[in-house]
Amino acid sequence: MMMQRDDARTILVVDDEEKNRLAISAVLRHAPEPYLVITAPNGLVGCKMAEAQKPNLIIMDWVMPEMSGLEALMVLKERETTHDIPVIMLTGLGSSKHVEYALNAGAADYLRIPVDKTELLARVRAAIALAESYSHIKEQSERLEEQNHELLALNQEKNEFLGIAAHDLKNPLNNIRDLARIIEQEFQTMPPEEVQDFARLIGQSANKMFELVRNLLDVNAIEQGGIKPHLVDFDIREIVNRVVESYTQRAMTKGITLNFTIPDEPIVSFADENLTEQIIENLISNAVKYSPFGKKVTIEISTTQQSVASNQQLLTVLIRDEGPGISADDQTKLFGKFARLTAQPTGGEHSTGLGLSIVKQLAEVMKGKVWCESVLGEGATFFVQLPMVV
Ligand SMILES: Nc1ncnc2c1ncn2[C@@H]1O[C@H](COP(=O)(O)OP(=O)(O)OP(=O)(O)O)[C@@H](O)[C@H]1O
Ligand SMILES: [Mg+2]
Repeated sequence: MMMQRDDARTILVVDDEEKNRLAISAVLRHAPEPYLVITAPNGLVGCKMAEAQKPNLIIMDWVMPEMSGLEALMVLKERETTHDIPVIMLTGLGSSKHVEYALNAGAADYLRIPVDKTELLARVRAAIALAESYSHIKEQSERLEEQNHELLALNQEKNEFLGIAAHDLKNPLNNIRDLARIIEQEFQTMPPEEVQDFARLIGQSANKMFELVRNLLDVNAIEQGGIKPHLVDFDIREIVNRVVESYTQRAMTKGITLNFTIPDEPIVSFADENLTEQIIENLISNAVKYSPFGKKVTIEISTTQQSVASNQQLLTVLIRDEGPGISADDQTKLFGKFARLTAQPTGGEHSTGLGLSIVKQLAEVMKGKVWCESVLGEGATFFVQLPMVV
C-alpha cells in the first residue's frame, strides 16, 4: 500500500464508468506529485463527497445517469462550502458548445476523452495551483480588510480624542481671551480688586489648560511606548505618606479626613517611584474630589503572595472613600479616556477625565494592576497592586 503524505492533494474523480475511474486514478497515482484519489460513481454521490471531504480538485464526467456532470457542477458552485473547489469537466462530446456551457457554469477547465495522460496531469497541476493562489489571495485580502477596519476604528478613536481635547482646551482659552479683552478695554474704570479677580480667573483657566495638556502628553507618551519605567527598590510607605501629607490641607477645606496609619515595617516595592507616586496621587485626588463634605478617606497598604506556587510577593495600596460610589455601568468606562462619569467634583475641582486611564496604563507599564470595587451609594475602593522585591 502506498503511504499517504501530509502534503498530498485530494482529487475526487466522479465517473459512472468504473474503467474510466480506474484509468484516471492510475494516472494520478503515478504522478510525480503525491495525490490522494477518491472516487464517486455518479453526480449525486460526487456532490456529497465533495461536501464531506473538501477535495482540492474534482474531475467530473459529463454524461452520467440521474445527475449529469453539468448539473452536479452547478450544485457545487451554488453551495458556499464547495464553491471554491476547482472542477475539471470531461467532455467526449466534441462540441465547443458544451465546453462553453461548462466554463460558464464555473468549471475551472475541461478535458476531452479519451484523456491524454500528460495533458491530464498538466491541467490538474494548473487547476490546483490556480485555486490555491486564489485562496491565498482571498485570505490575504480578508486579512487586509480586517486590518483596514482596525485602522479605521483607531483613526476614529484618534479623531474623537482630538475633538474632545480641542473642545476642552477651547473653553478655558475662551475665558482667558474674554477676560483679557475686558481688562484691556475697561481697565481705567475697573476697581483694582476686579482686575485682580480677573487675573485670578485667567490663572485658573490657564491651570486647567496646563493640566489637560500635561495629561494629553502623558497619554501620548504611554501610547507611543515612550514611558520606560525605571524599576528600583523603594519603601512604598514613604511615597504614600508624602502624597497623603500633600493632600491633607486640600481635604481639610472640604472637611474630609485622610486616614493613613503607616505600617511599622518597610514595604519595599520594585517599581518606578515617580510613576507610583503619580498613580497614588490620582487615586487620592479622586477620593477627595468626588467625596462630599465631612467624609473620610482611608488608605491602607498590605502585602500578599501572588500564588502558592510563586514566591513573588505583591503589595496592594487601597484607597477607600465614602463618596457616591460608582455604578456597574460607570465601572465599565472608568479606566477609559475622557471618562467623565456620573460623579461630579464636589468642590468645584477641575476634571479632565484622563486620570484613571493614565493610572491604569502606568500600573501596567510596571507589571502591576489597578481595579475598583464599588456599589453605587456606598463609596468606592480603588486597589493598586505592584510587585515587591523578592
Ligand atoms: N472615587 C470616585 N468616586 C466616584 N466616582 C469616581 C471616583 N473616581 C473617579 N470617578 C469617576 O470617574 C471619572 C473618571 O475619573 P478620572 O480620574 O479618570 O478623571 P477625572 O477625575 O474626571 O479627571 P482628571 O483625573 O483627569 O483630572 C470621574 O469623572 C468620576 O465621574
Ligand atoms: Mg481624576
